[in-house]
Amino acid sequence: MHTAIIIGVGPQEGLGARLCERFASLGLHVWVAGRTQDSLDSVVDIIKTNGGHATAVVADATDEKQIEALFDQATAEASGRLDVAIYNAGNNTPGRIIDMEAAYFEQSWRVGAFGGFLFGREAVRHMTANNQGGTLLYTGASASLRGRANFGAFNSSKAALRILAMAMAKEYAEHHIHVGHVVIDGPIGGEKIMKGFPEYAEKLGEEGLINLEGIVDAFQYLYKQPRTAWSFEVDVRTSQERW
Ligand SMILES: NC(=O)c1ccc[n+]([C@@H]2O[C@H](COP(=O)([O-])OP(=O)(O)OC[C@H]3O[C@@H](n4cnc5c(N)ncnc54)[C@H](OP(=O)(O)O)[C@@H]3O)[C@@H](O)[C@H]2O)c1
Repeated sequence: MHTAIIIGVGPQEGLGARLCERFASLGLHVWVAGRTQDSLDSVVDIIKTNGGHATAVVADATDEKQIEALFDQATAEASGRLDVAIYNAGNNTPGRIIDMEAAYFEQSWRVGAFGGFLFGREAVRHMTANNQGGTLLYTGASASLRGRANFGAFNSSKAALRILAMAMAKEYAEHHIHVGHVVIDGPIGGEKIMKGFPEYAEKLGEEGLINLEGIVDAFQYLYKQPRTAWSFEVDVRTSQERW
């Protein structure tokens, strides 16, 4: 069976969960990874109810041993096969540099960039070992492309992740590994914004929030591209976005 590993899975109305559901609907066994067991179990339940295959694994994207174990477990059950790996972990880390604790900046970088290295390294190790290629996708943000006042920690980690992805795209293309990056340029119409910042969400309205399924379409588009017409990057934003 085709296999996907997706890390950074939270609430059902969130990008990680929707990515898992979509790739399961395409017939892949999805390894649903993140830090919160209850959230992962809910996503697995939905996938199974819809007739798909999924397994929940609690793993912190910044923990080398846990990431190695995640890939070993998932590929062992698929006779080494790994078709898709998606790095979606990342929470916004606002703050002014002048006030910022070093540990806060470092933790932002650990989740935003270092975790992407650990995850990407394991993905290419397994995909090159089985000689079948695969797709490795990263979730980006406006921060991937632009520095912005009061978001220096987040901007710098997301920008580092994008450049890592680009380097890996060039390094592993000859192994038939398609590395891609999706720039989500604006707020997502999911639980993080709707529940966390309800007034902001209301002010933006449906037209001002990026549609979850539309973002998932971008990931699926990269996954489905033929080897003779690969994109590195797709960006998605609403018609309201001033960029
Ligand atoms: N929300 C937005 O408006 C927006 C806009 C642009 C880009 N993005 C990007 O989109 C991605 C997430 O989308 P989302 O906001 O809809 O959230 P989501 O996909 O629903 O959830 C992402 C999950 O990542 C998990 N996570 C955080 N740190 C982790 C770690 N060290 N190891 C494993 N999992 C970890 C968190 O779960 P736990 O806390 O339970 O561990 C979080 O719920 C991020 O890469 C973010 O930068 C979001």
